[in-house]
Amino acid sequence: MYILGIETSCDETAACIVKNGRLMLSHVVASSLKEHTKYGGVIPEIASRRQLELISIVIQKAFADARIKSKNIDAIAVTQSPGLIGSLLVGLSFARSLSYHLRKPLILVDHVKAHLYANFLFSKSIKEFELQPRFQNKNFPAVGLVASGGHTSLYFLRDFYHSHLLGQTRDDAAGEAFDKVARLLKLGYPGGPIIDRLSRQGKNSRIRFPCAELPETYDFSFSGIKTAVLYFVNKQENIRQFSTREIAYAFQKSIIHVLVKKCLRACLKLKAATLLIGGGVAANSALRDELSAMSRRHHIQCFTPLQSLCLDNAGMIACLGYFQFRRSPSKNS
Ligand code: KG4
Ligand code: ZN
Repeated sequence: MYILGIETSCDETAACIVKNGRLMLSHVVASSLKEHTKYGGVIPEIASRRQLELISIVIQKAFADARIKSKNIDAIAVTQSPGLIGSLLVGLSFARSLSYHLRKPLILVDHVKAHLYANFLFSKSIKEFELQPRFQNKNFPAVGLVASGGHTSLYFLRDFYHSHLLGQTRDDAAGEAFDKVARLLKLGYPGGPIIDRLSRQGKNSRIRFPCAELPETYDFSFSGIKTAVLYFVNKQENIRQFSTREIAYAFQKSIIHVLVKKCLRACLKLKAATLLIGGGVAANSALRDELSAMSRRHHIQCFTPLQSLCLDNAGMIACLGYFQFRRSPSKNS
């Protein structure tokens, strides 16, 4: 079964053809990120205008790279929500028209949950995939952490078809905290990759930023730590005493501590065989290392998507779309 995936929830315009929910035959992503960098965040108007210009070209390239004719796909999966309203509209309208024109079912997909499905993909053309372990049925039940710029959510997955939300952030998302702290440290946008890189050079245990743990729940809260960094930076003597690298390292360490602790608690309580991660923050090298080490200690398998598939892409949309379609084909429009 061939599914065309379309993703336009933020600054990316992405399309992908996935065979049988697993094999990526093409993977096209066009991003307008550079145009937003000078504003310190994504400008919705710019994002959706670019998407309007790009969507047709990106989808044509996805078909060409996969060597598949549009009439031969079985369904179209598209991000329904959450996301920027104008950007979502571009993808949804295009997908709906294409579905009508080709007479193929349209599958509406949740962007946040889809991030976890990036773990199930592989591709013959992306070499790094060969080093990745393949996710199989026996790896369930699983706990899944999605940490991105807009969301931080923890899921329980019984199998490929059934999952439910355990908890989510009550305020800022983890990636949002990275971006805001990077901005107040004058590091640029997006903050996550810059703080990740700086932290590798800034090991220092003297600074401690408190991060709410909300211990009786699977919820998260990251707005307090951002304020703690702000107060710390505003104290002039701290700026002289500590380097930006040290501050970045201490901030990242606190965020990772909470994410790892919560994942472990969920895995143990729910007897999960596997931990899955996804979303932009899942590209963070220290988070990947710590989750892998924690999982090894507790005999839990840890799956991390390729770095390129942590960020928004259409493969994950096609993959979740495939399982939704198999579960209830009649539910799709
Ligand atoms: O999943 P994503 O591409 O978009 C959303 O759905 O939000 O995630 C983008 C977020 C940004 O906040 C960015 O700063 C963060 O992911 N990010 C990282 C890293 N790479 C991207 N955060 C921490 N470490 C990274 N290496
Ligand atoms: Zn995302």
